[in-house]
Amino acid sequence: MSKPVNVAILGATGAVGTELLELLESRNFPLNTLKLLASPRSAGTTLTFQGQSIKVDAVDDKAFNDVDIVLASAGGSTSKAWAKTIVESGAVMVDNSSAFRMNPEVPLIVPEINPEAAAKHPGIIANPNCTTILMAVAIYPLHRVQPIERIVVSTYQSASGAGARAMQEVKTQSQAILDGKDPQAEILPYPLAFNLFPHNSPLTDMGYCEEEMKMVNETRKIFNEPDLKVTATCVRVPVLRAHSEAINLEFKQPFSVAQAREIIANSPGVQLLEDWQKNYFPMPIDASGKDDVLVGRIRQDISHANGLELWICGDQIRKGAALNAVQIAELLIEKSWLNKTDSPLEV
Ligand code: A2P
Repeated sequence: MSKPVNVAILGATGAVGTELLELLESRNFPLNTLKLLASPRSAGTTLTFQGQSIKVDAVDDKAFNDVDIVLASAGGSTSKAWAKTIVESGAVMVDNSSAFRMNPEVPLIVPEINPEAAAKHPGIIANPNCTTILMAVAIYPLHRVQPIERIVVSTYQSASGAGARAMQEVKTQSQAILDGKDPQAEILPYPLAFNLFPHNSPLTDMGYCEEEMKMVNETRKIFNEPDLKVTATCVRVPVLRAHSEAINLEFKQPFSVAQAREIIANSPGVQLLEDWQKNYFPMPIDASGKDDVLVGRIRQDISHANGLELWICGDQIRKGAALNAVQIAELLIEKSWLNKTDSPLEV
């Protein structure tokens, strides 16, 4: 068994942070000590772990002393602000934010896809964007058998992607509408209850929002396919938890539906869920709280001989964030990859 390690969760009070706690407990993670860190707003509050109350501390210069692994999920600016301190303290940061994902020195890891890329790192390993992880884990098993040439994806993203307060906001808005009042939007830019809107991340010059460009660039990096053609349309929908995605894949040659089904049914991290008689396919309520990404409606693209259509649902907080981060930490421990390379990282 691996030697137990000292872990800190940065952002322990958030939607992903609380899931990290649950996963460390339920997965029998080789844990020695656990520190819970958040903003000064939460300092002094407590969270329960293995039946015991643990105090939440505000993060400071000394917070990472004697810590081996920091699971960070407190936003990009917090990760950037503390990265140097974490690395200089001798810890490895598994970062759930987008701050370092596209840095060429920083591995971007989905353990089912590119675990070996985590062997060398500068003290930071990036956890990919949630919609990207869910898509990548579902389609990589097909890509491994026959390379994908082009991906066209549309997402249906739940409020959980914008954090615990956004989830609460959708509930409050729903109640307001049922009470005949105007829904108020404070966390998300527009009312999401009984509504939807294109993803609220900033727009880039090309007209794509940042979330969409993450799907493009991060998929290329994870697959190690810099020229892979990817286009995405990301949409927020009034679902509390778990994202859905309609994915169109174009291969070099025809890919049989039967073979795709068999591959998905036998690949790690994914589960085939289809009942064609009942018209029953993955739904966010099926995926919520589950580790696996659910895949269904695998069918021939009638507009293209080399095309396949897929529908997936995955828990954005779990495999899309917390679970993938914990799997990365487990990988580092199991393979003894906690040592960082000597090359300094500009942070
Ligand atoms: P806090 O609860 O004290 O605000 P979510 O993504 O669900 O909104 O959660 C964000 C997490 O990041 C929370 O745990 C939040 O703590 C934490 N956080 C936000 N800003 C900071 C900061 N400046 N320093 C440390 N933790 C932060």
